Amino acid sequence: MTTKSQAVLNWIDERFPLTSSIKGHLTEYYAPKNFNFWYFFGSLALLVLVIQILTGIFLVMHYKPDASLNAAGVPVAFASVEYIMREVPGGWLIRYLHSTGASAFFVVVYLHMFRGLLYGSYRKPRELIWIFGTLIFLVLMAEAFMGYLLPWGQMSFWGAQVIVNLFSAIPVIGPDLSLVIRGDFVVSDATLNRFFSFHVIAVPLVLIGLVAAHIIALHEVGSNNPDGVEIKKKKDANGIPLDGIPFHPYYTVKDIVGVVAFLFFFSAVVFFAPEAGGYFLEFNNFLPADPLTTPPHIAPVWYFTPFYSILRAVTYPLFGLDAKFWGVVAMGASVVIIAFLPWLDRSPVKSIRYKGPVFKIALVIFVICFFILGYLGVLPPTPGRTLVSQICSVLYFAFFLLMPWYSKLDKCKAEPERVNFK
Ligand code: HEM
Repeated sequence: MTTKSQAVLNWIDERFPLTSSIKGHLTEYYAPKNFNFWYFFGSLALLVLVIQILTGIFLVMHYKPDASLNAAGVPVAFASVEYIMREVPGGWLIRYLHSTGASAFFVVVYLHMFRGLLYGSYRKPRELIWIFGTLIFLVLMAEAFMGYLLPWGQMSFWGAQVIVNLFSAIPVIGPDLSLVIRGDFVVSDATLNRFFSFHVIAVPLVLIGLVAAHIIALHEVGSNNPDGVEIKKKKDANGIPLDGIPFHPYYTVKDIVGVVAFLFFFSAVVFFAPEAGGYFLEFNNFLPADPLTTPPHIAPVWYFTPFYSILRAVTYPLFGLDAKFWGVVAMGASVVIIAFLPWLDRSPVKSIRYKGPVFKIALVIFVICFFILGYLGVLPPTPGRTLVSQICSVLYFAFFLLMPWYSKLDKCKAEPERVNFK
């Protein structure tokens, strides 16, 4: 550094912790040296967050949250999305980056969460990282749900109608609560305006705040790794973990590999299959919202379908409350239960590498059930499908609720003293 730039840096450092932050979070933040590809998904989630915010800013420049009909009899909101697609230079790209980004966000976050399950990253001392993560997941679902209403297509409208109506199943406050959410007795212009406000500013602010808290908590305790060994337990004379390497340049460079691989697949979808066969953008959403015509089959977007299946799996009333209420409870519980994992897993080791066969089998069954539930959630219900989704829902909850028992009795291998790295 020249003396002049050093002087500028000193001037800043006396007023703002620039050098110390770069050291603390990058060049002298020691991460375990044995990260594998599963560790790409945290930085990829950050990348998708940035893509969504940037493309969102440009979409808002042309999008209009207005349910009234234009001279051609098409809702203004729907027409403004078509305008972005056909008239705004590069608008189609911005829109497809944003719509594909929504699905990519969930792909990346699901894989990121699964990594946590594999390596026991939720265990002590990382409980708060996990809790912030579960909150991020909840907020992300709210963000995606409200965003889906904005194009004001048939699925936007009827999807919102179905989901907001669920809140009315809550005893006492339910009907008023769904009225407050909609701002009207039916999904209408008022709903579109408040969902727009929430989608564009309120929820992203919460999301960014939670992501910041997630990473601050992570940097306080340090990362876990595929062996589940705490690297802070073995340090050299300078207090540097023996199995740690500086995050920058080692992992900044490694993460670029993940970014390139991700952008390869992401661009393939954006440019060649942005609707992804109706999974990312549903066919019915290319029709303007029509409150007088209910589509024959209403299904949420793929990332909600495992939880939607759990909702539909509950078909029996209980304690004088109808099945819809218990369905909502089961769906809510299926997400909230994830936050309790740190206290449900009683295994003596963290990583799947050293866990015994029972945990491994439980995890495989859980993943299979999650996929089946996701698949069934896209299809219209039949008695046979409902039965399968009931079995899978029971197994889904059993994975969590029986964990204190089976994780304790499992025959685990001994955790190594140091991480494995070849
Ligand atoms: C917007 C969404 C999210 C972003 C941007 C994000 C970002 C990150 C980043 C950058 C890391 C460090 C790199 C890595 O370990 O991969 C990380 C770690 C972690 N995240 Fe997330 N995350 C998100 C959502 C979630 C969710 C939904 C969960 C779980 C419910 C979660 C749980 C964790 C855990 C447990 C770690 C520590 C992993 C370890 O040390 O092994 N995150 N996250």
